[in-house]
Amino acid sequence: MTLTPVPRLAVIVVAAGSGTRLRGGAPKAFVGLDERSILHHALRGVFTAEAAQVVVVVPDGFEGEALTDARDAAGDRTDLVTVVTGGATRQESVAAGLGALWADVEIVLVHDAARALTPRAVFDRVVAALDAGAVAVIPTLPVVDTIKRVDAEGRVIAAVDRSELAAAQTPQGFRRDVLEAALRSADDDHTDDAAAVASAGHPVLTVEGDAAAFKITTAPDLERARAIVSERPLAATVAAPAQRGPQVGIGTDVHAFGGDGTLWLAGLEWPGEVALSGHSDGDAVAHAIVDALLAAAGLGDIGTHFGVDRPEFAGAHADAFLSHTVGLLSAAGWRVGNVSVQVQANRPRFAARRTEAERALAAALGGAPVSVSATTTDGLGFTGRTEGVAAFATALVLPA
Ligand code: CTP
Ligand code: MG
Repeated sequence: MTLTPVPRLAVIVVAAGSGTRLRGGAPKAFVGLDERSILHHALRGVFTAEAAQVVVVVPDGFEGEALTDARDAAGDRTDLVTVVTGGATRQESVAAGLGALWADVEIVLVHDAARALTPRAVFDRVVAALDAGAVAVIPTLPVVDTIKRVDAEGRVIAAVDRSELAAAQTPQGFRRDVLEAALRSADDDHTDDAAAVASAGHPVLTVEGDAAAFKITTAPDLERARAIVSERPLAATVAAPAQRGPQVGIGTDVHAFGGDGTLWLAGLEWPGEVALSGHSDGDAVAHAIVDALLAAAGLGDIGTHFGVDRPEFAGAHADAFLSHTVGLLSAAGWRVGNVSVQVQANRPRFAARRTEAERALAAALGGAPVSVSATTTDGLGFTGRTEGVAAFATALVLPA
């Protein structure tokens, strides 16, 4: 555990509801999405955003379970976690969370645990708007359905102008003093915090929400969240690179001889050698490195990012693949530590050009060291029969 300076920002994660509409057999935040609970997923999102005091508000009796979830999601930032018991309404739960804030906190985000898959970008947009001077900020999405006002008998009374409507999400962000004062003087039970702040007379700014920040309310919502979690690459659900440290990955690739033109392998052109076939130049060495790097960063594989439907990579050489991969890693917060790749092939002979290949590959990776070795297979297998080339790569990635 590292001790972080006291943050100026706090996130109150309200998770004290019972989930009556979901009927999930447990308070909603403690229902599982995969092997982890809704709360655990929500907290993972929170901990990928800017360092903040994180106050988790839970139903009476669930404090221990919440603390375990929170510590697990917090990585090396467990010192930032506080768990408190919530109240009978959401507003009371928010008030309980406010009561646990540290003195130095100036900005408060209130976030529904039920919006378990909220992307980090939404947090960032809310904080940025507060930093730019707003006192209250909510993420919203345009309303896409046509909205009608309907009476108790289900008859349409009037159409509602959709252009004036927006669906409010969380995290909702506030200057701490403004939120505290608004909730102190609020008599109604507002369904969200922005309503209390608005009725206290403060302007509430909107920033763009995200469809992924939908609230798990009913059983179909839970199914949708479970489907998303089961399909998305692990990296999207795990902690940020800074909390994960160095990671290794492996990648292999094979291409057959018989392509057009000259051979391209390990980032070099080999005049006089038979070309490899493939959608691109068939550079098995480069492709194995791409897979190893993506695997290390948990970003899927070469097919995820360079599918055959990407015409810009048809016929592309190693430098295009590798530099694009470095860009993908960098966007996810990783940089390349080093790469080691072994080629199995009878041809071409690497001995004379090994250093040249290492330099070309390293340059395409932005300077990270690459080692290349080559071997034959004693006449065995397809490489032994000179039918093609196989490459095996390992890569180390580090938090950027
Ligand atoms: N919440 C809370 N304390 C309450 C009520 C709600 O902390 N007394 C939290 C919920 O845990 C949820 C968020 O506020 O993360 C939004 O509320 P909602 O989706 O309505 O959740 P529940 O109240 O649990 O669900 P339901 O209304 O179906 O019972
Ligand atoms: Mg509720």
